Amino acid sequence: MTISPQQAQFCTQRGLDVHLCSYRDIAQDWNGRFDAVIANGSIEHFVQPADALAGRADAIYHELFAICHRMIDPQADSRRLMNTTIHFDHVHVEPKDIVRSAWSFPWFSDRFHCALLDRGFGGYYPTLGQFQRCARPYFNLLKERDATCDYRLTSEEWLKYGIRSLVSPRQLSRLLPFALRHPRYATRMLFLLMVTQSWNWQFRGEQPPMKHLWQTWQYVPQ
Ligand SMILES: C[S@@+](CC[C@H](N)C(=O)[O-])C[C@H]1O[C@@H](n2cnc3c(N)ncnc32)[C@H](O)[C@@H]1O
Repeated sequence: MTISPQQAQFCTQRGLDVHLCSYRDIAQDWNGRFDAVIANGSIEHFVQPADALAGRADAIYHELFAICHRMIDPQADSRRLMNTTIHFDHVHVEPKDIVRSAWSFPWFSDRFHCALLDRGFGGYYPTLGQFQRCARPYFNLLKERDATCDYRLTSEEWLKYGIRSLVSPRQLSRLLPFALRHPRYATRMLFLLMVTQSWNWQFRGEQPPMKHLWQTWQYVPQ
């Protein structure tokens, strides 16, 4: 399931069963039809800074757990929900700051990076423990792994690959049509990925600003 038409098209071309739909619009006829639900790097986008500012974050996560719960078959063996999600950790930036322009903050400050990341990717991260609170009474946390180091190594590889792509005529010819169609967005992404390296900033250092968690949740019968 994706809300990106381009991603849906990409999947369809590869023979995958893809649905272009928001998780909030899943029809009732999907109830009880799944052994498990996987949210791989998507929950970060479900709460926007404006939602957090208006105090809606917990309600949005609570509704997400309720939707996943109703999709799972109560008789299935696994009955799990799995997610990989970036959380605020050593850095926490208030939603009122993230909605401001990155240029109103000192370059390379925490608020500068977070405002840039929101403009590029869109979303307000959860805090540690917020999901446990919002999962009740639908799911219990079964297993949690801190995958921040894994994501840092992956992100450093992505950055090297991105920089190599900029000097590769073959990769450039693939990127150029997108950049010409969306010049402002392409410039912003290039800036935050390669110049300020805000994506990689999240996972770097002894005490990384963000934590990447892999979580497995056990279905609780109601
Ligand atoms: C960073 S991508 C991760 C994509 C994919 N899981 C992967 O591992 O490559 C974020 C994904 O969240 C999805 N997403 C964001 N908001 C959504 C929503 N309201 N309902 C369903 N999917 C959503 C997007 O369509 C996108 O596929």
